[in-house]
Amino acid sequence: MLVLILSGLSAVSFAGVGEGRGLYSAYCQICHGARGEGQTMGKPLTDNPAKRLMDQELVDVITDGRAGTGMVAWGGSLSDVEIFDIASFIRNLQGMPPLLLNDPNAPISDDPNALAGELLFNGSVGCATCHSYREKGGSVGPNLDGLTSRLDEAALLQALMNPSASIVSGYGAKEVEQGDGTIIRGRYRNDSELAVQIQSEDGRRWLTYFKERVTAIRDSDESLMPDTFARLSANEQQQLLAFLKSL
Ligand code: HEC
Ligand code: HEC
Repeated sequence: MLVLILSGLSAVSFAGVGEGRGLYSAYCQICHGARGEGQTMGKPLTDNPAKRLMDQELVDVITDGRAGTGMVAWGGSLSDVEIFDIASFIRNLQGMPPLLLNDPNAPISDDPNALAGELLFNGSVGCATCHSYREKGGSVGPNLDGLTSRLDEAALLQALMNPSASIVSGYGAKEVEQGDGTIIRGRYRNDSELAVQIQSEDGRRWLTYFKERVTAIRDSDESLMPDTFARLSANEQQQLLAFLKSL
């Protein structure tokens, strides 16, 4: 199934309208008309009800059809990409902007600020060591897809400027103190009568400590997230924020 991003901010691979046109005339035109004006067996695709379909709904109706009508499901005979191309051609007939496809390799946004922020996130600032979006990145901190649907501006700024002020549940840190006094911190993962398991701060290793062999195991009220953000320049902060808001 295709996953579409519906926001105008998101990026972007535009489908080949050319291919969509050919497929449309082969399979759809007979009922919907060459210009989407509608025919006896099918309704117009350029009227308001059809224009009001969201991108995902448009793709879904072509894929799954409308039960009990002449509009059969095309998902079995056309590939996802072909359906996407046809849907894009329909948008073209409607005089509407093209569909946006969530291509995992496409940049997240066409806003230059957000693009610069994405580079910082994955590069020098190192957020991606601990955080994922679109299924890539680390797992020490929460996945950040759809971040702005759960954090408003104030909560987002607090999470960035002062990570320990409130710690996302399930992402707390444990400290293990060993006999020689060294302390290991990491994301708390598992506990049993015998042992505690934590994920190292760089996310790479899952470490098991037997309780009888360590001096102490404590919950930490300090976030594993460093306060890197607070130390960035105003410009870099703004770029990262633009990127986070586009997720
Ligand atoms: C045999 C005739 C027929 C063919 C072929 C056909 N359709 Fe349809 N289509 C219909 C009918 C009838 C409806 C109206 C269904 C309903 O009552 O909701 C419809 C509805 C739709 C809708 C929803 C429009 C709206 O306003 O909700 C879209 C989009 C659509 N068709 C696209 C396509 C595409 C793309 C193809 C080719 C791959 C295609 N159809 C092929 C008969 C057809
Ligand atoms: C060493 C790992 C680590 C690094 C590096 C890191 N974070 Fe985090 N981050 C976490 C952890 C763990 C949490 C959850 C605990 C908390 O709330 O502080 C978190 C929480 C967050 C949250 C709140 C998420 C939510 O769902 O409420 C945001 C936003 C965030 N980080 C963004 C960033 C950004 C942007 C960077 C880069 C500047 C960054 N993080 C770097 C580990 C990290």
